[in-house]
Formats: sequence, structure tokens, C-alpha cells
Amino acid sequence: MGRNLRLSIFRYRSNRSKIEPRMQEYTIEEEPHMTIYIVLTKLRENQDPSLLFDFSCRAGICGSCAILINGRPKLGCKTLTETLPEEIVLKPLPTFKLIGDLSVDSGAWFREVNIRLESWIHQREPFDPSSEEERMSNKTALEIFESERCIECGCCIAACVPANMREDFIGAAGIYHVGRFMIDPRDQRDEAEYFKVVGMEAGIVTCTGLMECDNYCPQEIPLQEQIAYVRRRMLRSLFGWRRKSARA
Ligand code: SF4
Ligand code: FES
Repeated sequence: MGRNLRLSIFRYRSNRSKIEPRMQEYTIEEEPHMTIYIVLTKLRENQDPSLLFDFSCRAGICGSCAILINGRPKLGCKTLTETLPEEIVLKPLPTFKLIGDLSVDSGAWFREVNIRLESWIHQREPFDPSSEEERMSNKTALEIFESERCIECGCCIAACVPANMREDFIGAAGIYHVGRFMIDPRDQRDEAEYFKVVGMEAGIVTCTGLMECDNYCPQEIPLQEQIAYVRRRMLRSLFGWRRKSARA
């Protein structure tokens, strides 16, 4: 017989503002290889059909099941109960708009940040559908692939102290997205154009290097490496401008 898990789960519906936020207690018997996603599904099926939480792929790919598990941002579908004590506290990720209970609207946050960062390939010439495909080396393609691994779960944002203090901060995920375009030879933005989207105060300047993003990214992306790369590029461009304006 498995352990008796005692769960304390945050409950609140933002569209029913007369009901105060509260923690609700549940118990469930632990099963082998049980994940937090399975716990929540069983609770909803057998004890409380009103429980709200997000999931889609159940395989650590879509990023939608990220929640605070005993205070730490993690994916519910990848977190085994056997790695946790018997008492488990579940809360929604902070910094994102709360929909209800454990469900937050991280999609809206990422959409807005990606628009602000202009997360698409910028080219000077108009698109010519009859032109030949542009080739790139395997090394560059692999580097770009490595910079495309973010599943937009929001764990790095939830774990980041500056992101919790400043809601317009683009966070590690935003900086990581910009770095992906910086290494893409098809993106023809110059340093001044990149500076406009990532060099501002709500960008790279707000990162204080606490590295919590690195600690909690379920994809184990080396976020601090990418942040250091973007920071170096932005510093170089800043000194370049100063030299140019000194010469003028
Ligand atoms: Fe999640 Fe990592 Fe992407 Fe941040 S960088 S949103 S922690 S996958
Ligand atoms: Fe998709 Fe967990 S359900 S990452």
C-alpha cells in the first residue's frame, strides 16, 4: 500500500470575486510512478470535478502544466510524487494572470513578449517566393536548434525575483528568444535594432544574475550562457555607438 498523500491546493476563481482565495485539503493514496498530473486528474475525476488545472501533452513538451509544487516551479507531468514528502502544497505560478485554481494564462504573457521582441526573422529585401532556399552550415543549424528548445512553461519567469517585482521584464525566456535570432544568419537586424528590443530597462538590464531561471528550467537550457551572450552583444554595441558618436 502506498503512502497517504496530503495535498493542500490553492482555490480561487478570478471570475467569482465574491469567493475569497483559500487552500483546500485533499488526501489520496500514492501509486507507483505517480506524477502530480496524475494526482490532479484523479482528484478531479473522483473527488472534486471543479478543480482547475492545465495540461495538454502529459510528456514535458507543451509547457502548460507548470505550477508551484511545494514552492518550486515545476512541470506537474514530470514531477513524481516519490520525490516529494507526504505533504504537498500546490499553487499557481506567480507573475502570470490567474484564470482559476492552478490555471494561469502564460500563453498571453508569451504572446505579448514575443510581439515586443519581434520574434521573427527580419530581412531587408522583400520576400521572393521563387528564390532558392538559403543554405546554412550544420553547425549553425544545430546552434539555432539548441536555441529553440524553450517550451514556454514559465518556470524561469516564476522563479525569477526581478520578474516577480517588475511585470514588464521580458525574463530569461524572452532574452533566450532574442539570442536565437542573433545567431540566425537570415535575421538581418543590426545591433542597434536588437538593442531596441532587449537592451532597454525591462530587458537585459533588469537581470541580476541570480540564476534561478537556470535552476528551474525543466528543459535544462543553459539560460545564463545565453543571457551572458546577449549581454556581451549589447555591451559591444553600446561601446560601438559611443566610439562612433565620439568620432562624429
Ligand atoms: Fe520554461 Fe525553460 Fe522556456 Fe523558461 S526557458 S519558459 S523555464 S522551458
Ligand atoms: Fe505538457 Fe506537462 S502537460 S508539459
